[in-house]
Amino acid sequence: MFDPMVPRVARVKSRRREIPNTWTLELESDASDPGFAPGQFNMLYVMGVGEIPISMSGDPAAKRLVHTVRAAGAVSEALAKLKRGDPLGVRGPFGTEWPLAAAAGKDVVVLAGGLGLAPLRPLLYRLFAEPGRYGRLNLLYGSRSPADILYDRQLDRWREQHRAAIETTVDHAAAEWNGHVGVVTSLLTPGLFDAGNSVAFLCGPEVMMRFSVASLMNLGMSAQDIYVSMERNMKCAIGHCGHCQFGHTFVCRDGPVFRYDRIQDIFGIREM
Ligand SMILES: Cc1cc2nc3c(=O)[nH]c(=O)nc-3n(C[C@H](O)[C@H](O)[C@H](O)COP(=O)(O)OP(=O)(O)OC[C@H]3O[C@@H](n4cnc5c(N)ncnc54)[C@H](O)[C@@H]3O)c2cc1C
Ligand code: FES
Repeated sequence: MFDPMVPRVARVKSRRREIPNTWTLELESDASDPGFAPGQFNMLYVMGVGEIPISMSGDPAAKRLVHTVRAAGAVSEALAKLKRGDPLGVRGPFGTEWPLAAAAGKDVVVLAGGLGLAPLRPLLYRLFAEPGRYGRLNLLYGSRSPADILYDRQLDRWREQHRAAIETTVDHAAAEWNGHVGVVTSLLTPGLFDAGNSVAFLCGPEVMMRFSVASLMNLGMSAQDIYVSMERNMKCAIGHCGHCQFGHTFVCRDGPVFRYDRIQDIFGIREM
């Protein structure tokens, strides 16, 4: 029987540098792979180093196991260094998904900050695959500098292929940048969506999500229409160890994707 605590062994199929310190790893997968829903994550284990949660960042329909990893510390650095053919342990998928059904018939605002675009990418694949199911699609993405824009070529392709507003902004730019400069909330303008008939999906640093929620609500969106993905330190990923717990809420089991009104009291509390 499937034991969620026992990793299966996978091998790196390909490795691609995205931006400084950030790599996308595709793992070899076979028919026994369970698939995943946008928003979910795997626990990736580098032999002899450790295990960390990493979101799925690939297309759910393509049945490919893709993760985008920023080298931030011991385990993520070791993951980012894995070469083609290297083995690693995989547990998952775990966690809640971006609720696409809640967006049906509504305008959609996807707000990403930095690496937060990675856990949102599976959602974007799904939104772009069925545009007729939703109203206006908006992807608003903020990164530190032009060199930190994740999946930049794919963003350009999506701009050409889809009828969606795809805007990027950077905190700091050199002279050759002729796009937006400023925080991601500066891209949130009233005409983009019908605040009474929209859903927003947010992922990024918590401070960015806090300001984004406030801006969306100032524009008339209700807390029940806003979904955020939260990151907390995790060990078991199945609601047992308590590492990600706050009161009755386990980020690994009840999240990482939450409807904002359901976690607004604990949002912003760093250590749980
Ligand atoms: C549900 C979920 C999905 C995630 N998805 C991705 C992803 O797609 N790509 C990716 O690169 N990272 C992702 N992360 C973050 C990743 O798990 C952490 O960067 C990693 O655990 C750091 O471990 P480390 O051993 O490399 O570094 P450590 O030495 O443990 O930490 C390095 C630095 O990162 C901070 N840190 C540690 N854990 C977290 C965390 N969970 N959230 C924020 N900061 C943390 C530490 O405080 C320290 O400053 C996700 C985290 C969660 C909970
Ligand atoms: S990681 Fe163990 S309870 Fe969430």
